[in-house]
Amino acid sequence: MVSTQLIVESGLRYLPESGAAKENRSPNQQLLPLTANVNSRDRLEIGGCEVTALVEQFGSPLYILDEETLRTACSQYRDAFKRYYRGESQVLYASKAWSCLAVCAIVADEGLGIDVVSAGELHTALQAGVSPGKIYFHGNNKSREELQLAVESGCITVADNWHDLETLSELGKLGVSSKIGGPTRIMVRFTPGIECHTHDYIKTGQIDSKFGFDPNSLNDVFKFISEQPSLYCVGVHAHIGSQIFELQPHDDLADVIVDALTKAISYGLPATEINIGGGLGIRYTEADDPPSIEAWASTVCTAVVAACKRQDLPLPKLLCEPGRSLVGTACVTAYTVGSQKVIPGVRTYLAVDGGMSDNPRPITYQSLYRVLAAGKMSVPLTETVTIAGKHCESGDILIKDAKLPECGTGDILAVPATGAYNYSMASNYNRVPRPAAVLVRDGKVDTIIERETYQDLLRFDRLPEKLKTQK
Ligand code: LLP
Repeated sequence: MVSTQLIVESGLRYLPESGAAKENRSPNQQLLPLTANVNSRDRLEIGGCEVTALVEQFGSPLYILDEETLRTACSQYRDAFKRYYRGESQVLYASKAWSCLAVCAIVADEGLGIDVVSAGELHTALQAGVSPGKIYFHGNNKSREELQLAVESGCITVADNWHDLETLSELGKLGVSSKIGGPTRIMVRFTPGIECHTHDYIKTGQIDSKFGFDPNSLNDVFKFISEQPSLYCVGVHAHIGSQIFELQPHDDLADVIVDALTKAISYGLPATEINIGGGLGIRYTEADDPPSIEAWASTVCTAVVAACKRQDLPLPKLLCEPGRSLVGTACVTAYTVGSQKVIPGVRTYLAVDGGMSDNPRPITYQSLYRVLAAGKMSVPLTETVTIAGKHCESGDILIKDAKLPECGTGDILAVPATGAYNYSMASNYNRVPRPAAVLVRDGKVDTIIERETYQDLLRFDRLPEKLKTQK
């Protein structure tokens, strides 16, 4: 029996709440994956696998992705939309959060579609076996080549601006069409003019945004599309931002987007879909208190139903495209402590074998994370230390003033909530190879991304002939 005192002061405090049944917990409200557990050796387990043992087997740093948490988040979104919306619905995964074959295949297996923003993400989704009819292609500057690929693949292109529309129209005139048959399906993205509280870099709903059509241009946009025989406009899209804890902006969005759909229909377009974007936040520290997936879905669905009633509109197909809240909580990153620097009376730095190259979020958005000693889960958190990355950059600090038990060289640290925008924004800064990623479930483990090698780092380097002879 563990005493309450110990729970408050050790890494055990970060374990998922034990009250509700596992499948009823909203992953985005947890700090650790749903399967997180501490075994009899006082070690953190994810998906039935000991984190320290995984590091021994697969190396460090290591992204550890918990299949159960990812699948639970998918099914909670999918089921909540079915429960709260009588019309047709489709949840898409915003694959920018983590685009790789395994993640795309898992979310598709759960019945989700995929939102992609580049030919690379489209290629990944298609290679993972996702049906093109469930892929939506976003982006504020798609190249002609990307648009052609989108049209030919049979996915739905989200027209973000006049460049998209004009290029799609030209491609239509040249006879470019879907290889799987059917018309060139598009959606129209516009900026809804809704502000929300989040980091400036991840706000997109405000009028001064690089994404989507200015709402004042929608009449011209719909008129243009109505004159293009090759374009089949299925609906409208808007997204207000990311890591949002408020429900009100999503409620407000419903009216704005249903108005835009009504406008599209008034131009004779066959528009029957609305996509309200993603944006639900997740817990990175105990101070974060996001609404549950269910609360978000119920707010969105109720607001859309009410807006349609006001407009006397039959319920459109309702899409949403969360990224972070699907995959964020499912992953922890394991690191190994190397050097230490103690500045008496000032600060103690513990340096780990990764940093801004595998998690650029702290340096980019000043994001806060928590850290656990994966091999000392019930040892009291007596130390205050700063977790530094290994990169040649003073700002490469993963966690400032972290609470940990006494740790030193060789200890394995686990940073929770690293599934979203970590691997996908990872770099090779300082020529550090990107870590491997493993998928864990019921004590079994699969490599889903190989660790990069030094040879991989040289794959695209070419030495001009004239330099080859130099010694
Ligand atoms: N749909 C659109 C059109 C988006 O632009 C985004 C995110 C999403 C959906 C998914 O949003 P989510 O559910 O993940 O909040 N790198 C930043 C986040 C950038 C978000 C970009 N767009 C970060 O690490 O916080």
